[in-house]
Amino acid sequence: MKQSSLLLVDDDRLVLDGMSDWLREKGIEVAEAASCQQAKELIDRSGFDLVLADIRLQDGDGFDVLEHCRRRRPDTSVILMTGYANAQTGLEALRAGAFDLLTKPLLDEKLELAIDRALSQRKVIEENAKLKAQLDLRFGMENVVGQDHRMRKTFDMIDSVADTRATVLITGESGTGKSLIARAIHRRSSRRDKPFVEVACGALPETLLESELFGYVAGSFTGAMGDKTGKFKQADGGTIFLDEISTASPSMQVKLLRVLQELEFEPVGGTKTIHIDTRVILATNDDLARAVADGRFRQDLYYRVNVINIELPPLRSRLTDIPLLAAHFLTRIRAETGKPVEGFSDEAMAALQAYRWPGNVRELQNVIERAVLLGKKPLITPEDLPRDLAVSSPTLARQSVGRTLKESLAGPERQIILETLQEHNWNRNATAEQLGINRTTLYKKMKRLGLETPLHSVMEVSH
Ligand SMILES: Nc1ncnc2c1ncn2[C@@H]1O[C@H](COP(=O)(O)OP(=O)(O)OP(=O)(O)O)[C@@H](O)[C@H]1O
Ligand SMILES: [Mg+2]
Repeated sequence: MKQSSLLLVDDDRLVLDGMSDWLREKGIEVAEAASCQQAKELIDRSGFDLVLADIRLQDGDGFDVLEHCRRRRPDTSVILMTGYANAQTGLEALRAGAFDLLTKPLLDEKLELAIDRALSQRKVIEENAKLKAQLDLRFGMENVVGQDHRMRKTFDMIDSVADTRATVLITGESGTGKSLIARAIHRRSSRRDKPFVEVACGALPETLLESELFGYVAGSFTGAMGDKTGKFKQADGGTIFLDEISTASPSMQVKLLRVLQELEFEPVGGTKTIHIDTRVILATNDDLARAVADGRFRQDLYYRVNVINIELPPLRSRLTDIPLLAAHFLTRIRAETGKPVEGFSDEAMAALQAYRWPGNVRELQNVIERAVLLGKKPLITPEDLPRDLAVSSPTLARQSVGRTLKESLAGPERQIILETLQEHNWNRNATAEQLGINRTTLYKKMKRLGLETPLHSVMEVSH
C-alpha cells in the first residue's frame, strides 16, 4: 500500500522539526512548510493525503491554507492546530471544512488518533470512488457499445439530456437496447444514487398496473389491507422507466398525462395528493405515431412524451456495430466462463453480418454465448453458429437440406449483394453494374433482403 503523505505547516521552527521527526517515526512521509505562502506552493506542486496547519502563521493563517486546499485539492483532508482554542474557532474550523481542530502541544495520542481518523476517512472516500467507477463501467456508456453514427448521436444525446428532468422516449425494435439505454441515462444523471424503478406496463392488467404505479390506500378494494406505495413514489428523486408504454389503457393514459404534467397524483381509493420528483423514461417497440393515428394512443400524451426521442436502429442496419458487439460479448462471456475462445473466423463474421437479426442485439448476444459455450476451437466458425445464420454464409449453402431453393439462396444472395454494396461504398449504380442486374432489381432485392443503406454512406455519396 502507498505510504500516506502529510504536509506540516507551522512558522515555529522548533515545533516543525519536533513534530515532523515524530511523524516520520510513525512511518508517515512528511513535507514541511514554514509559511502560508510556502504551504500553498507545496500543495499546488504535489497533492497530500493530509495537511496539518497551525492557525497562526506570520503571513496569513491556517484558514487560508484550508481554503486553498478546498479549492485546489478537494480530496485532501485538513487538520488545523492552535495554541489557544476556544469553542468559536473550533466551530469555525469545522464549518470551513477542516477535518478537525487540535490544541497544541500535540505530541500525544490525540494527534495520532486525529491523523489516523483523517487518513482512514480518506480511504473510505477512495474506496467509494472505486466502487462507483466499477458501477459506471457496468451500467454507464462504457457498457453500451456502438460506433454506428446513429449510435454515436444517441450517446451525445444521452450526455446532454441525462442530467435534466426531461422526459425521454426510447423507441426501437425488441432487443435493440432500450432498457440498457434507459439505465445508462439514469446512471449518468445526478439521480444515480436514487432508485431506478422499472415497470413493464404490458405485463399487468389495467387495474393492477394502476395500483402498481400509483399505490393504494387501505380498503380501497377487496384485499387492499394496508396502504401500498406505488412505483412513482418509490422512484421519488430517481427515475421511473415505463416499458411497453403503448399498451397503456385509455384511462391509464389520462393518469400518466397528469403525472407527467403536474408531478402529482392520488393513490387508488385515496384523496390525498402525492407530489413527486421523479424523472420519467418511456420505451416502446410500437410505432406511437401510428398508434395515435389509429386512436389507440392519446395525441396530447404523445406530444408530452415525444419531446426527446431516442430511436435505436435495428441491428441489421448497423453493420459496423456487429463485429464490435460480437467482440464485446465474446470478451464478457470468455471472462465469465474461462473458455479460451479468441475470436471469429472470417466466414463466421461474414455470416453474422449477413443475418437479419430479428431479435437484434439480444439475439446476437445469445448466439455468441452459445458459440462460446459449444465451440471447441480457438476461433468461432460458421459451424458454431445456429443453422439460420450459418446458412447465410456462402460456403455453407450446400448444407441447407430441407429448405426451399429460394430460402437456401436468400442467404448467399444477401451476402453477395451486401459485400458488393460495401465494396462500392453503398453506391447502387456501381453495385448493380458489377452484379449485372439493373438498379430497380437491386432496389427490390435490397428491400426483400433487409439491406438498408447506412446513413453515413448516403451522406458520403451525396456530397
Ligand atoms: N449497444 C449495446 N451494447 C452492448 N449491449 C447491448 C447493446 N444494446 C443491447 N445490448 C444488450 O442486448 C440485450 C437486449 O437489450 P435490451 O434489453 O436493452 O433491449 P430492449 O430494446 O429493451 O428489448 P425489449 O423491447 O425486448 O424490452 C441486453 O442484454 C443488453 O445489455
Ligand atoms: Mg426492454
